[in-house]
Amino acid sequence: MLNIVILAAGLGKRMQSDLPKVLHPLAGKPMLAHVLDNARALDPNRIVVVVGHGAERVKQAFADQPDIEFALQSPQQGTGHAVQQAAPLLQESGKADDATLVLYGDVPLVQSDTLRRLIDARAGGMAVLTEKLDDPSGYGRIVRNDRNEVVRIVEHKDATAAEQAINEVNTGILVAPTGRLKDWLSRIDNNNAQGEYYLTDVVGLSVADGLPVYAAHPAAAWETLGVNSRIQQAQLERNWQGEQARRLLEAGVTLADPARFDLRGALVCGRDVFIDVGCVFEGRVELADGVRVGPHCVIKDAVIGAGTRIEAFSHVQEAQVADEAHIGPYARLRPGAQIGAQAHVGNFVEIKKSVLGQGSKANHLAYIGDARIGARVNIGAGTITCNYDGVNKSLTVIEDDAFIGSDTQLVAPVRVGQGATLGAGTTLTKDAPAGKLTISRPVQKTIDGWTRPIKKS
Ligand code: UD1
Ligand code: CA
Repeated sequence: MLNIVILAAGLGKRMQSDLPKVLHPLAGKPMLAHVLDNARALDPNRIVVVVGHGAERVKQAFADQPDIEFALQSPQQGTGHAVQQAAPLLQESGKADDATLVLYGDVPLVQSDTLRRLIDARAGGMAVLTEKLDDPSGYGRIVRNDRNEVVRIVEHKDATAAEQAINEVNTGILVAPTGRLKDWLSRIDNNNAQGEYYLTDVVGLSVADGLPVYAAHPAAAWETLGVNSRIQQAQLERNWQGEQARRLLEAGVTLADPARFDLRGALVCGRDVFIDVGCVFEGRVELADGVRVGPHCVIKDAVIGAGTRIEAFSHVQEAQVADEAHIGPYARLRPGAQIGAQAHVGNFVEIKKSVLGQGSKANHLAYIGDARIGARVNIGAGTITCNYDGVNKSLTVIEDDAFIGSDTQLVAPVRVGQGATLGAGTTLTKDAPAGKLTISRPVQKTIDGWTRPIKKS
């Protein structure tokens, strides 16, 4: 049975923030959520998050996730003390695969592949995730014997000069047999430089009990970087964005500049997708084969069909665009926009909760809300669906092949029949019949002999 304990009780003083550290975002979601994702990928029997500082806010942020147990650590007396608080919640079957993996809530990017290797390395005993650093200062050092076996971990502040010269450090992540771990935790003390109960002391206890301690290493250095400050948060954000960009490039996506790409969620791309600089993708976005996204677009929770082009500075949220459409520049697709194949949505056109049918065009300056627009409709510049009377929202229906002249207001609920034409400047308050010209503007006249007023002296 696999238990995962995530330590998240620390203060995070250097963040200079009222928000508990583990709720600070990385790629648009709380650091702790990243840790939980990677934890869940291991299919554990139990996940325990140890909370302390800001406990209520942390618990509340994950209140909708019933697979998480919380243990309160107050006051915080060290990493060993933290795991002790989780100990009563740890599950055991009595079999050899009983294990408890300890993760940190502020080390958000350790990948499940690395954790799987760590678990495999323990071979019935315990294993620690270690790495070699050019500058190991501040970290716990991995002390090995002359057979190169791990014998204990010494914290920087407790280390002798010779131990401080060791450059193999403890990342903090380890896995141990659950029953043994509980026993060792009950035996550690706080007689050390920091007066804390060190989780790292279980390593020496394991060796003393004749149970060897193995080491595994992260696949990439950024996996074990922790966040203690806004600077580290920003650096880790760049590391992670770089990694996400790398994965997309490997999958065949062209990124105009991988260093100017931000993904805060999941992006699924078909073949030969091109993404220009400065785009932000949020939530879950799908770009089908051959989609081209111009510079500085923001796309959130959207599905974009094959061959569609989204031009610069467009904003797309909770929208669907079919194949071969042309969006932007400066288009805004709001929740519920459904753009048909080969449709065009041009600059300063806002579309909300509306269907724009196949091959229809709204190329300039329009607001389309709560509308059902058929195929091959032309929406002139300055067209507005007046969908809101201050209390209720009403529907505008425009049937296939209609032509809406420029600067038209469609006062909903209203319907424009198939093939109807609305003259420019029309304020449509009643349905427009199919196949006919409907126009509401006053008749134009010219006044002969009229002169401009002149200023009185
Ligand atoms: C710890 C390790 C050290 C390792 C380093 C890696 C110990 C004794 N030392 O040191 O060997 O090199 O991490 O970064 O384990 N936490 C609690 N409750 C506490 C104390 C800490 O939940 O009482 C949490 C923190 O919120 C944090 C994690 O445990 O997520 C690590 O705590 P931190 O104080 O950063 O540990 P270090 O002293 O850096
Ligand atoms: Ca730390």
